[in-house]
Amino acid sequence: MLKNNKIKLIKYYNLINHNLIYNNKAINRYKKDIYEIPEDRSKSLEFLKKSIMNLKKCDLKKNAKNIVFSDGNPKSKIMLIGEAPGANEDDEGLPFVGRAGMLLDKMLTAINLDRKKVYISNIINYRPPENRRPTDEEIKRYLPFITKHIEIINPKILVLLGSTAMNALIGNDVVISKMRGKWIEKEFGNCKTSVIITFHPAFLMRQPAQKKMSWIDLKMIREKKNKLNI
Ligand code: URA
Repeated sequence: MLKNNKIKLIKYYNLINHNLIYNNKAINRYKKDIYEIPEDRSKSLEFLKKSIMNLKKCDLKKNAKNIVFSDGNPKSKIMLIGEAPGANEDDEGLPFVGRAGMLLDKMLTAINLDRKKVYISNIINYRPPENRRPTDEEIKRYLPFITKHIEIINPKILVLLGSTAMNALIGNDVVISKMRGKWIEKEFGNCKTSVIITFHPAFLMRQPAQKKMSWIDLKMIREKKNKLNI
């Protein structure tokens, strides 16, 4: 009897992860913004970021201060993609932190979302000089990375902000005035997702009259989010 108990106890101890018990790292119970990402997803994101940082012969990278990879919750089912970082984003290494970002935050708040509930990235990860539009060649160079990025995040809703994101991911033969405000079912590798195209916040700052169209798109996103129980 005693021997049996001993065997059971040994089996039980073998199940315990000793690293957890004996390592002397403090447990951080206060860092609220850390999402528990499945290990393979966080590894894939890290690998993707490193691959971009290892890009050779890219002038954008040479001229930029920081890589702008992403912001938000990598576990989110809603992913937003913009064009490319500007000066503020380049300084901080985060997407949409300048004036356009402030408007984006307001747009998200209007449909009960915020940066912690979505995941945000750009077609291009380094700031183009003087905030110029990325060239076709630059978009072509970064396209495999953003496609992989979508595949890793695997969103149920993909929001393309502006015509650069739309042309890069949907095709060059479409115009945003005709494409916005519609759901398109698309596949990016293994990721099947509902895509919606809407105006870029920087465009809305230049053309405030278009905000009423943007509001229609935002309400469609809210409706879809509720329908999909996100
Ligand atoms: N505009 C974009 O498209 N992306 C950013 O990160 C900032 C501004």
